[in-house]
Amino acid sequence: MTTPPRLALVIGSTRPDRFADKPADWLLERGAGRDDLTLERLDLRDFDLPFYESPQTTDPRVLAWREAIGGYDGFLFVVAEYNHAMTGVLKNALDQATAEWRRKPFSAFGYGSVGGARAVENLRTAAIELQMVPSKFSAHLGGSDLFRVHPFGGNGPMSDIAEAVGPSVDAMFEDLAWWATTLRDARTVAAAA
Ligand SMILES: Cc1cc2nc3c(=O)[nH]c(=O)nc-3n(C[C@H](O)[C@H](O)[C@H](O)COP(=O)(O)O)c2cc1C
Repeated sequence: MTTPPRLALVIGSTRPDRFADKPADWLLERGAGRDDLTLERLDLRDFDLPFYESPQTTDPRVLAWREAIGGYDGFLFVVAEYNHAMTGVLKNALDQATAEWRRKPFSAFGYGSVGGARAVENLRTAAIELQMVPSKFSAHLGGSDLFRVHPFGGNGPMSDIAEAVGPSVDAMFEDLAWWATTLRDARTVAAAA
C-alpha cells in the first residue's frame, strides 16, 4: 500500500465562540480511524492572517500560511455559512496563496440551516479558480440535525447525528483519499519530468 496522503482539516471560522470546533473534533476523530489518509487540524486562528495585500508580500503570517498549505496533499474545509457564502476569513485565506493550492483536491463539511450548501458551492467556485480539484462528495449538517447539536438548540454530542451524517462523511473521506493519492502521484511524476 502506498503512503496515505496527508490532508488538512481547515477550520473556516475564527470567531471566539464558534460552533466549528464541535464538527471539526468529530471529523478528526472519524478520520483517525482510516488507513487511507491522515488528517491534521489546520486552524486559521493559529495564523492571524492580515487581509490580502499582494502576492509579493513578505508578511511572515502569510508566508507561514503558504508553507503550511504547501505541505498537504488535499483539504477538508469545515464550512460555516455566513449570509449564503463562506466566511470572510476563509475566503481571505484562500486568496493568500496560489501555487500551494494548485492541483490538489478538496471536500467540505458544511453546516447551517440548509447544511451550509450555499457556502460550500461558493467555496467550490472560488477553489476551482485556484485550480483546485473539487470532490463531488461533501457532507452537510442542517435542519433538525444541526438543531440537535448546535448551542442554539439541544447542544447534544455529535454522536447524536452520527447515524444521519456519518455515511456521507465516510463517502467524502473515501473520495478525497482517492483524489489526494492520485493527484499527489501525478504531481510527483510531473515534477520529475
Ligand atoms: C454573520 C453571520 C451570518 C450568518 N448567515 C447564515 C446563513 O446565511 N445561513 C445559515 O444557515 N446560517 C447563517 N448564520 C448562522 C450560522 O450558521 C451559525 O451562527 C453558525 O454557528 C456559524 O458557525 P460558527 O459558529 O462556527 O462561526 C450566520 C451567522 C453569522 C454570524
